Amino acid sequence: MKSRVGVGIIGFGNIGWGTAKVLLDNAAEIAQKVGSKVELLKIADLDITTPRPVTVPPNILTTDVTEVLNNPEIDIVVELIGGVNPAKKFILQAMANGKHVVTANKELIAKHGTEIFEAAAKNGVDFYFEGSVCGGIPIIAALKTSLAANNVQEIMGIVNGTTNYILTKMANEGSDFGEVLAEAQKAGYAEADPTSDIEGYDAKYKLAILASIVFTGSVNVDDVYAEGITKLARADMENARELGCVIKLLGIAKRNGDKVQIRVHPTLIPMTHPLATVNDVFNAVFVRGDCVGDVMFYGRGAGSLPTGSAVTGDIMDIARNINCGSVGRVPQLNFGPCAVQSMDEVVTKYYMRMRVNDQPGVLAKIGGVFGEHQVSVASVIQKDQVADQAEIVMVMHKVAEANFRRAIEQIAKLPVVSEVCTWIRVEE
Ligand code: HSE
Repeated sequence: MKSRVGVGIIGFGNIGWGTAKVLLDNAAEIAQKVGSKVELLKIADLDITTPRPVTVPPNILTTDVTEVLNNPEIDIVVELIGGVNPAKKFILQAMANGKHVVTANKELIAKHGTEIFEAAAKNGVDFYFEGSVCGGIPIIAALKTSLAANNVQEIMGIVNGTTNYILTKMANEGSDFGEVLAEAQKAGYAEADPTSDIEGYDAKYKLAILASIVFTGSVNVDDVYAEGITKLARADMENARELGCVIKLLGIAKRNGDKVQIRVHPTLIPMTHPLATVNDVFNAVFVRGDCVGDVMFYGRGAGSLPTGSAVTGDIMDIARNINCGSVGRVPQLNFGPCAVQSMDEVVTKYYMRMRVNDQPGVLAKIGGVFGEHQVSVASVIQKDQVADQAEIVMVMHKVAEANFRRAIEQIAKLPVVSEVCTWIRVEE
């Protein structure tokens, strides 16, 4: 057993300082649980002068990344700069130097996971990434170990806190998307450039990682459908409530025969669904396994200390592996490609809202088009009338998405239809 396991961090941003703080503040507890000291030896960042909310030992800050990558005393390199480049280069270099790696970099794993897992296997090092999905929620460890015996049929999750905060405010305060986004940016809950969150990319990377673990295949992130929340209006939140539902940005991964569905989009779910009451910046992941049944994980999906907690847990696990001579014990994710079903084949229910002329025969025309495409209407509500226009809200029975899309395209062109405002998938 080593008396000391050396750690070097690359990236002293929010997760970097959070991880440093966890390692330093809880050093005694960590050492006791690991069986040896886990010592933070270096932190590399281009900016080492801006004050951070943690006091680190003198001389551990450096602007030279090679002081981490080539440091013989460092056993575990923690990559916390995010993005693909130069993070990938640093990780591969660290592995080539025989160092174990921990990261919270979802984009890198989603896009280049296979290459990194292969490099880890080739170099006989550990690669852990708990902090990459849902911050402090221990979902990856649970899927890789405690739930590993299950044939997981479905994962459904709220994996992005920014959008959950926005949707919660829209639902509770009757505000519009743009208003709440501006407020969230001001309060620091949304980034100055919120594209990755509000367009669903952040959620797509996280879901691709979870799906790769449970479906034991390497999911091509480009096969994951992602639709954000920018088109949702106050009216949709109100209509959802009247239908006994809420709208959440869900990541959904389901087995379907020999393929899997992996999709991120706004979804109507019944208020009685366990995910319906997950509000504000909180995340939750619902897993359905063939043996365990339903399990749900809930907590903070972002933030310096919650994510620092997940990153440090990984560091401790690797330190234990080093001490027991069992590095490389957990199988990597290079199982071969995973066949993802096209969205055209996905069968689900739909909600839609449109503005139409308020005159006889309009519903018959719309219903006729749906009928032509085997789309069956489950319910229709006529909302407020403005001048000679009415807002119609419809819910459809389950149908293949290709049929629904074809019907909608045709309906949008009917002279009696002013606008197909929104359509949203519905989960039961
Ligand atoms: N921006 C993410 C969120 C956190 O809002 O959940 C980091 O993945």
